[in-house]
Amino acid sequence: MRRIFWNLLALGWVVALASCGQGQPEHVFEPSYFDLEKPDYFPSQTNVPDNNRLSTQGVRLGRYLFYDIRLSGRHEGDSMLSCATCHRQEHSFESGLDNPRLVDGRMQGVTGALTAHNMLPLVNVAYNTKAFGWNGSTEYPAENLEQLIQKTLLDSTEFAGNADSIVKRIASIPMYPHLFEEAFGSESVSMDRICSAIAQFVRTLVSSDSKFDRYMRGEAQLTAEEMRGYVLFTTEEGADCFHCHGGSGNVLFSTYDILINGLDPEEFFTDAHDRYSVTGNVVDRGAYRVPTLRNIEYTAPYMHDGRFSTLDEVIDQYSENVYYSPYISPLMHHVQDGGVQLTVEEKACLKAFLLTLSDEGFLNNPNFSNPFVQDTIPASDVSAEE
Ligand code: HEC
Ligand code: HEC
Repeated sequence: MRRIFWNLLALGWVVALASCGQGQPEHVFEPSYFDLEKPDYFPSQTNVPDNNRLSTQGVRLGRYLFYDIRLSGRHEGDSMLSCATCHRQEHSFESGLDNPRLVDGRMQGVTGALTAHNMLPLVNVAYNTKAFGWNGSTEYPAENLEQLIQKTLLDSTEFAGNADSIVKRIASIPMYPHLFEEAFGSESVSMDRICSAIAQFVRTLVSSDSKFDRYMRGEAQLTAEEMRGYVLFTTEEGADCFHCHGGSGNVLFSTYDILINGLDPEEFFTDAHDRYSVTGNVVDRGAYRVPTLRNIEYTAPYMHDGRFSTLDEVIDQYSENVYYSPYISPLMHHVQDGGVQLTVEEKACLKAFLLTLSDEGFLNNPNFSNPFVQDTIPASDVSAEE
């Protein structure tokens, strides 16, 4: 009896000690929230949700995850895939001309898998409050970047991941639980947290220091050629680009609307993943979301199917090769002339203006680069469970 008493007492101590351990001074969860840095001529509206505000710690975690090839859920030989495999900083987070190839009219992505479309860059994505993807299938506000990222991780043509194994694998890597605790208040790893953190990092990818931006801030002059290109860009009797791609009134250089810009006659609309595939509405056959023109110098090939390798080809297209189709956007004002009909000189000016949207500082911003210093991931961190 006495022994039992002492045993119970001892057990009591153990329990008390253990609960003491649990009740140790709680790590206070104090993320350092911040707002996106931006010039005052940028729109005030962003897609940052109230429940996923940017914090230094969340962005830090998201940046690691964005660059971490261990996020990939593939089992085959090509399993080492991260967001940055396709979205490369030196190409404004596109993949670049040398990577995807057209195979039988479809894009062959970095992984070798055929993907529905050419890449899209990740630049000022935080300001897109309409729709993501070429066909706008991820529509704001019903869905946001968080949901798009989740789809990307599970999509068979991208990560081909499995939510359980992604969570298990990330949780098993020694560096992560601590980063999750800093970002979210506890070490627990979940798909929601993974996607939230990556979304935070992606939203910080803001480009606002091109020559055009410096011109907007009164810090730089455009050359006569660039200025003439700007006027062409923003006038209906000129190149008439601004209704869809903005200008001083829309410095994102996209309205993010989804429409037809006359690349092909109707019988050429054969893409199984165009806007029609989302809405089932015949007016959307051959319609795509307007892409931004920021950093356009670095993001060839162009259009949803990567059909053009150079800006000259794009400009020729809008100048002379615009095709009529019944539901072409009414903003393609010059379709009856086959395009805006620019002279050789005007084309050069328009191109010069487009090149003022290049932001080299964005491509070299150390806050956006790969946070893993090569060869410093301890071998023990590279877990191969499953
Ligand atoms: C295998 C290459 C590949 C990988 C890996 C990849 N992406 Fe993409 N990403 C694409 C392609 C291709 C598109 C355009 C898809 C479409 O609209 O059809 C795209 C589109 C996007 C868009 C939409 C941009 C816009 O303007 O609407 C975002 C955001 C994005 N990716 C983020 C990510 C993130 C974050 C990751 C990592 C979790 C990732 N991607 C991994 C190829 C890739
Ligand atoms: C009616 C709206 C509209 C007008 C006007 C318009 N565009 Fe576009 N633009 C689009 C759409 C939509 C796409 C995507 C089409 C696709 O991929 O099938 C696009 C794509 C582009 C691209 C490719 C971007 C990329 O990342 O692949 C460039 C470059 C471009 N436009 C430049 C221009 C220029 C220069 C003008 C003026 C001469 C112009 N656009 C006028 C709607 C428009």
